[in-house]
Amino acid sequence: LKPLLCANRQVLLRSRPTGIAQAENFELVSGLIPELQDGQILVRNHYLSVEPAMRGWIADIGNYLAPVAIGEVMRSIAAGLVVESKDAHYAVGDAVTGWFGWQEFAVVTADRIIRKVTDNDLPLSLSLGILGINGLTAHLALTKIGLPMPNETVVVTTAAGAVGSAAGQIAKLMGCRTIGITRGAQKVDLCRDLFGFDVALDYTAPDWREKLLLACPDGIDIYFDNVAGPISDAVHGHLAQNSRVIICGTASIEDWSHWPQGPRIERHLLVKRARMQGFVIFDHQDDYPASITQLATWVRTGALRYQEDILMGMECCPDAIAGLYRGENFGKRVIRLV
Ligand SMILES: NC(=O)c1ccc[n+]([C@@H]2O[C@H](COP(=O)([O-])OP(=O)(O)OC[C@H]3O[C@@H](n4cnc5c(N)ncnc54)[C@H](OP(=O)(O)O)[C@@H]3O)[C@@H](O)[C@H]2O)c1
Repeated sequence: LKPLLCANRQVLLRSRPTGIAQAENFELVSGLIPELQDGQILVRNHYLSVEPAMRGWIADIGNYLAPVAIGEVMRSIAAGLVVESKDAHYAVGDAVTGWFGWQEFAVVTADRIIRKVTDNDLPLSLSLGILGINGLTAHLALTKIGLPMPNETVVVTTAAGAVGSAAGQIAKLMGCRTIGITRGAQKVDLCRDLFGFDVALDYTAPDWREKLLLACPDGIDIYFDNVAGPISDAVHGHLAQNSRVIICGTASIEDWSHWPQGPRIERHLLVKRARMQGFVIFDHQDDYPASITQLATWVRTGALRYQEDILMGMECCPDAIAGLYRGENFGKRVIRLV
């Protein structure tokens, strides 16, 4: 319930980072919850999402969303319960996920709500991860751009993370052979043992490039790229004829204002008749309902596994993005408030 005259703890953007967003770019403050106007809904956030992309949402550089203004509540997707409503379509107790920001309570209009969460047999936090942006990205990028065919070889980066782990498993469900690339022995084990990658490689090991070559003797049909940089440079040389490269993220590039120059890849694309395409999940909102139904079915049957990296409390917000870039998370990072 909404506590009387409750303070609403919020995380505000205080300054723009030059590279990866750090704790000092944010400030935890106490605000108040305003009275609801007609058409507004008050949501109590139970879980806040942490995305690598949040770094882009606060950078003053060309992106697919306008940057969060200095002094504003940090933009984020969150999941929670409606505690008061002046919109007839939403009732007290409805579980919802949407653009609620890094704060305990959000006063929103319906256009900020992504969906009502009706799969009540599954944890609400999944609406931020495997049944949210991450699962949707993995599923829709694969089916719209990757176009997997049985027996094809699929390479996935950030393979132990939220998008990567789902992408690997979905490719496998579609009959592909999967190779996951991640950091460190523990994540390699997770990729193999929980997420079922046929091969998992540690990109910090000196011989990982040789192992990649051995793992894909017939080349790579689909490269699900979440990192760019030197890892991708190694993968591009092994693309197969008619391969597809999904550009989904650029996690390894620290400085976007001085984009690093890498090997020229045009010759690989030309000789292999390969196709490379960028993907942004927010372009595919019409496909969310069908994709979520499919993802939830796989989760219920155990065909699609997930791991959550749950931090406790608002105090964790400021450093949470930097932690993703330090590779601390095993699976989907969320912050639990309730
Ligand atoms: N295009 C879209 O619509 C869309 C939507 C959602 C997510 N994404 C992208 O998908 C990627 C994964 O997102 P996620 O939410 O699932 O996060 P995540 O994989 O759960 O967490 C981020 C991971 O990035 C890896 N990483 C960080 N710095 C790196 C570096 N320098 N080199 C290589 N890997 C590095 C770390 O894994 P390791 O420990 O293995 O290095 C870290 O765990 C991100 O690039 C994100 O921007 C794109």
